[in-house]
Amino acid sequence: MIIRYLTAGESHGYALNVIIDGVPSNVKLQKKDIDTELQRRQAGYGRGTRMLIETDEVTVVSGVRNGMTTGSPVSLLIRNRDWENWKNKSYKETLETKPRPGHADLAGALKFDLKNIRDVLERSSARETAARTAVGAVAKKVLRELDIGFYSSVINIGGISSPVKDYKQLKKNYDNFNRTELRCMDKEASVKMKKRIDQAVTNKDSLGGVIEVLVENVPLGLGSFTQYDQKLDAALAAAIMSIQAFKGVEIGDGFSLADRTGRTAHDEIFYSKEKGFFHKTNHSGGIEGGMSNGEDIIFRAVMKPIPTLMQPLKTVDLATKKAEAAFKERSDVCAVPSASIIAENVAAVEILKFVQLKFGGDSIRELRLNLQNYLKTIR
Ligand SMILES: Cc1cc2nc3c(=O)[nH]c(=O)nc-3n(C[C@H](O)[C@H](O)[C@H](O)COP(=O)(O)O)c2cc1C
Repeated sequence: MIIRYLTAGESHGYALNVIIDGVPSNVKLQKKDIDTELQRRQAGYGRGTRMLIETDEVTVVSGVRNGMTTGSPVSLLIRNRDWENWKNKSYKETLETKPRPGHADLAGALKFDLKNIRDVLERSSARETAARTAVGAVAKKVLRELDIGFYSSVINIGGISSPVKDYKQLKKNYDNFNRTELRCMDKEASVKMKKRIDQAVTNKDSLGGVIEVLVENVPLGLGSFTQYDQKLDAALAAAIMSIQAFKGVEIGDGFSLADRTGRTAHDEIFYSKEKGFFHKTNHSGGIEGGMSNGEDIIFRAVMKPIPTLMQPLKTVDLATKKAEAAFKERSDVCAVPSASIIAENVAAVEILKFVQLKFGGDSIRELRLNLQNYLKTIR
């Protein structure tokens, strides 16, 4: 079985829901495992007041009995508390006709022949990422059983940049680090980032940034060089690019490789009895030839500034075709810390997919045994 899912639900609708097929049986899964991820997604400096209204929690509707997955589809429901404030609003009260530059408003409304942008934004909104984070939480529980772990951090907000310097520290202090408002390892940079966000609030502007995700203990050989659609790096990049507002992904040293020569860009190969084949450097970010190479998978992704601005950009009214200012409503100013959690969870689903493609299994025991046998053969 292989994980696949579909999400449904609107930002101010009754709920978000998701059906996840392909979750192996006998994985311990509790509501709190998913709630923890949902609440991590909601935190972070720079988010709007919506996050004060919503305290996301999941209802596990199916696929789990007595705290264990059964192998049947897992379906989840996340209620929108804000629904109570929206359910009796008339069409007129919710009417928006002035599309925001940078959002899905213009193309969405014209393409679906909708007169009210509200009908587009309710679904294009990043509220949908709560459902995807919940799927990631399930994927992570499966992968934890195989000792595969995920770490994410913020390395740039609005041009204040601080790359991760010490991955050992990140892993060691991850629990404490998770509670920080900006999710950046560098305390000095965090202070500057916070100031930059405050400045953006004052200027009625918004910010984006760069996040980094690390996946540890990924077995060598996930993905394949044999076909374009089986490459792990391509699948990961596509999944991450599907997150709202993400505009670029780099694997390993990524764009900086353009400035190097081959001698400094590639990871030399070593062998020891204890470790098997290994590398001492990780410029490739753990993926070569579309396959995991046994090292940590590391990728970075850029999030653009939030499109809704309190001092709106120029637009054209869909109904009158006259020049106007884009509509505005309650919005995040910067959601990069939250986006780092989403990226971690979206990546988890992709990694699980490739683990299952390679090792199969209907139960977690079968999956684990297949993996262990394979690991013996490649030493
Ligand atoms: C965690 C997160 C929170 C977001 N919050 C907002 C928001 O409050 N207001 C807004 O206009 N856009 C927000 N966005 C960005 C939009 O959802 C996104 O720009 C829009 O859907 C258009 O898609 P695109 O940027 O991928 O082209 C958020 C994105 C993420 C990942």
